Amino acid sequence: MDPLLAWRDEFPILRNTTYMISHSLGAMPSRTAGSLREFAETWATRGIRAWEEGWWQMPITVGNLIGRIIGAGAGEVVMHQNVSVCQTIVTSCFDWSGPRNVLVTDGLNFPSNDYIYYGLRRQGAEIVSVPSPDGITLPTELMLAAITDRTQLVSVSHVAFRSSFVQDLAVITERAHSVGALVVADLYQSAGTVPVNVRELGVDFAVGGSVKWLCGGPGAGYLYVRRDLWPRLQPAATGWSAHRTPFAFAAGPIDFADDAYRFLNGTPAIPALYSARGGYQIINEIGVDRIRAKSLRQTQRLIDLADEAGFRVNTPRPAEERGGVVTVDVPDGPQAARELERREILVDYRPRAGIRIAPHFYTTDEELDRTMEELRAITGDSALTSAGGD
Ligand SMILES: Cc1ncc(COP(=O)(O)O)c(C=O)c1O
Repeated sequence: MDPLLAWRDEFPILRNTTYMISHSLGAMPSRTAGSLREFAETWATRGIRAWEEGWWQMPITVGNLIGRIIGAGAGEVVMHQNVSVCQTIVTSCFDWSGPRNVLVTDGLNFPSNDYIYYGLRRQGAEIVSVPSPDGITLPTELMLAAITDRTQLVSVSHVAFRSSFVQDLAVITERAHSVGALVVADLYQSAGTVPVNVRELGVDFAVGGSVKWLCGGPGAGYLYVRRDLWPRLQPAATGWSAHRTPFAFAAGPIDFADDAYRFLNGTPAIPALYSARGGYQIINEIGVDRIRAKSLRQTQRLIDLADEAGFRVNTPRPAEERGGVVTVDVPDGPQAARELERREILVDYRPRAGIRIAPHFYTTDEELDRTMEELRAITGDSALTSAGGD
């Protein structure tokens, strides 16, 4: 008996739905409803006093729950709304007009990150995007070769959103540091399903969000910054929460807080932080190592079932290169995903990849079997590989 299945009762949607989409929106824990009630109750009864009774500290206290998942120390993670905001803050710490103006990014990165990076060209940045040769993987040597003494920042998606390919953050970080560049890692698709330790890896910044493996729902993203860098970083994307004495409401240029508050901006999104806590607590209670062990077993089972069905697998096969998702290419993927949904099995489809299927700690083996059986039935038993569409 799989001990992690004891958690199923905590997730209402699992009663009626085969939930294979935790890479996109993790299932809601029932305790989250209680947290949101607590938010409303606190606001209703404590009013303005709620700020000094905990709300003002929440970007840090909730960040501490993330810190334990990603290997950061207490007070080293601040909460924001999403990754796009965090990336904007990170990139605003640099001067892009000098000779060291190159930002190297991996070709499997999430598009939102790219949009922010390319926007920096207005400030003089040169963007080098390292293409993936097959759309699935990105050999580390290609990333290493792109990093030079003109590189200021290297952006790496730890686990690629489309193919679930795991990148070697340690080696890339070592190379970046050897030429005086810093590294920002996007942990969105790893934290909560693939073990990650930002301190051991030595990454300078890490960003991510709560919507997926962390089961924290929308509206809560996180930013980690290596502590010894704090004194030299002054984000241009800032706000009054980042001030040393915010309630002095001083005009003129900001005097940054010494601690991680310096990476905040305006009023924190308090309801989202209440909503996110429950998922983080559960991931901490279980431990990511146990989630990873189960995920590797179940993703392998999915790959075996896909092979049996004759579907092309667009996810790396070696366990150490594979995150929590298995992407299978089937004929008319969007239609197949819709039909699965009609049969109460939730997955999604990504162009140039296929149907993404993600077991999480609450998934049963029977659910994997059922998903692949239904997919076979929908596409016809004789389904062979297709081009995947766009
Ligand atoms: C790797 C990765 N980064 C970022 C995002 C999303 O960014 P944001 O939090 O800005 O919506 C996603 C998915 O939505 C993702 O998979």
